[in-house]
Amino acid sequence: MATITEIAEDIYRVNIEFPGKPLTYSFFVIKDEIPVMVETGFGRAFDESLEAVKKIIDPSTIRYVVVPHFEADECGAINHYLALAPHAQPIGSPIGTRTNLTDFAIRPPVTAQENEVLDLGRHKLRFLIAPYIHQWDSMLAFDDTTGTLFSSDIFIQHGSGPAITDQDVTEEMVSAYQSSGALPSRLHLDSALNKIEAVNPTTLACHHGSVLTGRTATYIKALRERDVAGILIDP
Ligand SMILES: [Fe+2]
Ligand SMILES: [Fe+2]
Repeated sequence: MATITEIAEDIYRVNIEFPGKPLTYSFFVIKDEIPVMVETGFGRAFDESLEAVKKIIDPSTIRYVVVPHFEADECGAINHYLALAPHAQPIGSPIGTRTNLTDFAIRPPVTAQENEVLDLGRHKLRFLIAPYIHQWDSMLAFDDTTGTLFSSDIFIQHGSGPAITDQDVTEEMVSAYQSSGALPSRLHLDSALNKIEAVNPTTLACHHGSVLTGRTATYIKALRERDVAGILIDP
């Protein structure tokens, strides 16, 4: 059963849990003059996710679907949503559109450039290109209006915590990376963290785990100083 939570003004988190999975999966719907989805969740969860989206907006009005990187949990349902929404286009990073979305998506994608801003009406989506976080095509989106960073697989935690929290979950976040090895080299991670610091987000809308508020500097410091980057694990 999907749960829906408004995490900032007219920004909704849709979260789906799968029995036995250590992670929960979120995507986000921005309700504005130009309606946007950030991530879609898995294709196999489409029926469940669509029911949730319908409670927020008319899915046929979706104009853009932001793809932070090409992975099933990020964009597995994208063609289902594009089929429902005749004017919807995917948005990906330059590498993402070139390598995957141009072929995979049923409608031509839009390529986001570094720091480009997309005006949705009340919300303004800014794109930060973040290669190798944690795929080479990765990018993040930041809403200038509400200070919300759609951080994809940065700042994630395992387990099903609250939808949104201002509690310190540094240890949960660090252990998620130390056990998964999901983050790339220190060089790539620090580059992404520099870009995040520059926009100064107040809300971290993670793709896994709770949405985090009020402690951005604490979490950035932990990712800079703790042993989370470039950890090789035996697959
Ligand atoms: Fe990912
Ligand atoms: Fe993910």
